Amino acid sequence: MGFVEDVSRAAEMIREANAATLISHIDADGITSEAIISQAVSRLGIPVNPVFVRQLEPMTMKYIPNDDTLKIFTDLGGGQQNLLEEAGIPTDKVLILDHHISQPAPGGTEYFQVNSQFYGEEYTKCSAAGITYLVARKLDSVNKDLAKLSVVGNVGDMMARENRGLIGVARWIAEDGADFGQIKITRGLNCYGLSTRPLHVCLSNSDDPIIPGISGKPAEAAALLCRTGIYESPSDQRLWEELSPEEEKMLTSVLAEQMIANGEAPNGLVAELYFFPDEMEKTPLRNASEYATMLNACGRWTKPKIGEAVCFGDRGQKYREAEHMLRHHRSIIRELCEYIIETGVEDIGSIQVIHTGEKYPDTIVGIGAGMALSKLDTDKPILVMCSVTDEPDLIKVSMRTYEKILRRGVDLQEALVTAAAEVGGAGGGHNIAAGAYIPKGCENDFTRRVNELVEGQLTAGPKDR
Ligand code: C5P
Ligand code: C5P
Ligand code: C5P
Repeated sequence: MGFVEDVSRAAEMIREANAATLISHIDADGITSEAIISQAVSRLGIPVNPVFVRQLEPMTMKYIPNDDTLKIFTDLGGGQQNLLEEAGIPTDKVLILDHHISQPAPGGTEYFQVNSQFYGEEYTKCSAAGITYLVARKLDSVNKDLAKLSVVGNVGDMMARENRGLIGVARWIAEDGADFGQIKITRGLNCYGLSTRPLHVCLSNSDDPIIPGISGKPAEAAALLCRTGIYESPSDQRLWEELSPEEEKMLTSVLAEQMIANGEAPNGLVAELYFFPDEMEKTPLRNASEYATMLNACGRWTKPKIGEAVCFGDRGQKYREAEHMLRHHRSIIRELCEYIIETGVEDIGSIQVIHTGEKYPDTIVGIGAGMALSKLDTDKPILVMCSVTDEPDLIKVSMRTYEKILRRGVDLQEALVTAAAEVGGAGGGHNIAAGAYIPKGCENDFTRRVNELVEGQLTAGPKDR
């Protein structure tokens, strides 16, 4: 079936429901997906009940009621149809809105899903919040006010990374939100923190691309900003959002020249950015990537409902709690990143491995590994393992790599799904970022097997994509 038919069918299933259980993931894409579908369904007068899970796995299945409600799975489900089948959940009570690689149920039960991976190139760079928005939009055009959340989900799941901006339907959604007046689409510095951090801090944090003489060097960044007249003194604290269009242009060309002078192509210095002018100035809510981090900070630290409240528009007590969560998240991620770099990873051939034990929660090790990878061997995927809070018999695995490695044939989702199944665990995700749970005790065999599989993928070379 085509996308248009599938979205219509999803909308029909929702309209016919008496009540809905919304099962979603605890990251930015999951929280925004839930906030979108929750509002769209409630606006039809249908009661909703949210259930956030860190992942659909045997232990979290107990939170999913096998009742009469329509169960709408967002940002998960496509890769875990085996668990739905095992729990005996009937197909007419399940709607999956996802973008993870789908894995069929062993008994052949076919759950209906609208999944970005099904409809060709226009859709593959669209996260669950994108699919969910398109279903909401089909239900009623009043849901246009939810486009902003959809952009946050897409950016939070790195859909804008490879092309330095959203493409395909995800870009269309951003335009929909711009038409509605809630999103300003612009081009500018491809740095994190443009709405909240002084420019020299943003610039010195830049690791993709590395700006020679500036990345990792806040004092040099401040000196450059003084030379260009953007800062009055090295202690200035101006933000990107406070620059005039002329200053923005001048700064980007000075940085591009600096890269060229150092023999680097200035590709990636500039990206499409998504600002939210109706949000408070100098807050993380002002742009999509910082908003997404705030939601990750809530969800990945077991408070997805605080993130949900922010998505619903709370700018009072819940928002203050979210600010607190964000500060905490950022400091622990920084510490985790440093821990990975200082401890060092073990190069086992085609991948690099580290076990962080009980030091950090399983919900954040993937993020830390992804960020640390820019300072490690970027040619080899990183695999991080850790203990799982409240499940002593399990080990959580996260892997991250770069596009350039995918182009050589690597597929982390495939490697983890295969290797995890062989040891009685389960994996899933994307070719570039994947995760798994495996039984404790088989870590060495497992990492050796993942290494072997990745080696095999590299030998086989690029896939036909
Ligand atoms: O479950 P899920 O898709 O939400 O995982 C999100 C994680 O995967 C994030 O850490 C995100 O950075 C990463 N990811 C990525 N590139 C993609 C998709 C996801 O880096 N294309
Ligand atoms: O889950 P994922 O790997 O996408 O998480 C990375 C998180 O870290 C993102 O939410 C991203 O917005 C945030 N980030 C950050 N500082 C950076 C780069 C990314 O906080 N310099
Ligand atoms: O947990 P982490 O951020 O490393 O997850 C990376 C990706 O793998 C996410 O898209 C997540 O949903 C997926 N994943 C999965 N099955 C697991 C663990 C993670 O599909 N058991």
